[in-house]
Amino acid sequence: MPDIESKLPQVGTTIFATMSALAIKHNAINLAQGFPDFDGSAYLKERVCHYINNGANQYAPMPGVPVLNQAIADKIHLCYGTDVSPTEEITVTSGATQGLFAAIHAVIRLDDEAIVFDPAYDSYDPAIELAGGKCVHIPLTEEVFAIDWQMLAESINERTRLIIINSPHNPTGSTLNTSDLEKLWQLIKDREIYLISDEVYEHIIFDGLKHASVHYHAQLAERTFILSSFGKTYHMTGWKVGYCVAPLKMTREFRKIHQFLVFSTSTPMQYGLADMINKYPKHTSELPGFYQQKRDVFREAMQATRFKLLECSGTYFQLVGYSGISHLNEFDFCHWLTEKAGVVGIPISSFYQSPVEGQKIIRFCFAKSSETLQKVGELLRKV
Ligand SMILES: Cc1ncc(COP(=O)(O)O)c(C=O)c1O
Repeated sequence: MPDIESKLPQVGTTIFATMSALAIKHNAINLAQGFPDFDGSAYLKERVCHYINNGANQYAPMPGVPVLNQAIADKIHLCYGTDVSPTEEITVTSGATQGLFAAIHAVIRLDDEAIVFDPAYDSYDPAIELAGGKCVHIPLTEEVFAIDWQMLAESINERTRLIIINSPHNPTGSTLNTSDLEKLWQLIKDREIYLISDEVYEHIIFDGLKHASVHYHAQLAERTFILSSFGKTYHMTGWKVGYCVAPLKMTREFRKIHQFLVFSTSTPMQYGLADMINKYPKHTSELPGFYQQKRDVFREAMQATRFKLLECSGTYFQLVGYSGISHLNEFDFCHWLTEKAGVVGIPISSFYQSPVEGQKIIRFCFAKSSETLQKVGELLRKV
């Protein structure tokens, strides 16, 4: 048999797997991969166990169990003041990644173009390619990681079918504001262009900033798949439960793909999450404070190091510049740092299609205990 001709020849082992293996080899602290080193709520775990022990173990309805769809609609109303239909506009997904894949496949046809902003979450590009589309990468501006509106306007043409935004932004921690959403609307309103708004870090935003959800922009929302992830909101990334909100016509197409990808999402998790949302509606408004405290502990611990701390307005990622420490490229520097200091980060070049020449920035995840964050500060002071 000949080898399968790869549909994704450029995709190899992810940088996260490489860096995590390196962390194990050197017994280093792994701040590379983005997940908390603490568990979510005991109540949430208890509720999921309850449902497992009481027979909620068969397939859930394809769009989600009704109590969860309703709880999500209530949460959206509470957070953004908008009303979305739990039955017609919300679909529970197996993580935001699966929702992203279904949304991309719902709109991208052969030779359509989709615009993503680099650095970008790594699942967008392969999903676009597998749908037969072409991924057009536009770099965010250097240092502050904002959208270059001129470049975006020049990149839009008659083949452009989709734009993907992500705020708060992984890996940079930058955020969009409501005037950005209006600019985007002005650029696409007269064209057949859809939007995916990756809002998985919607509740992790700092310094009193308000998350500029597409839910606030009624016209843009008419064109948008909004994705969120319970993994991020409830510290349970391994559960892989998220949801997609989109207008009815778009949701219909989304569900056609969703049902043949997974059909539905884990039943006991969905019931447990519904109970959690209903019992602790304040959780989402408390999350910014929770993670801001971690960000501040980490930034404080990093003060006496030679790393340069970049702005961080949201997510649980902190970018640091190391041009005052080394001339190595980002990948080599991460290897060197693991061996030298016992701390693992991620080169942000791995989030670019065309890495920025000479950029010397790596990403650390601060969703860790205060002890771990302080220990990292101690280790990095020696570098
Ligand atoms: C920007 C972004 N989008 C989507 C996801 C995927 O979320 P999930 O784990 O729910 O699939 C992640 C996870 O790291 C992310 O950082």
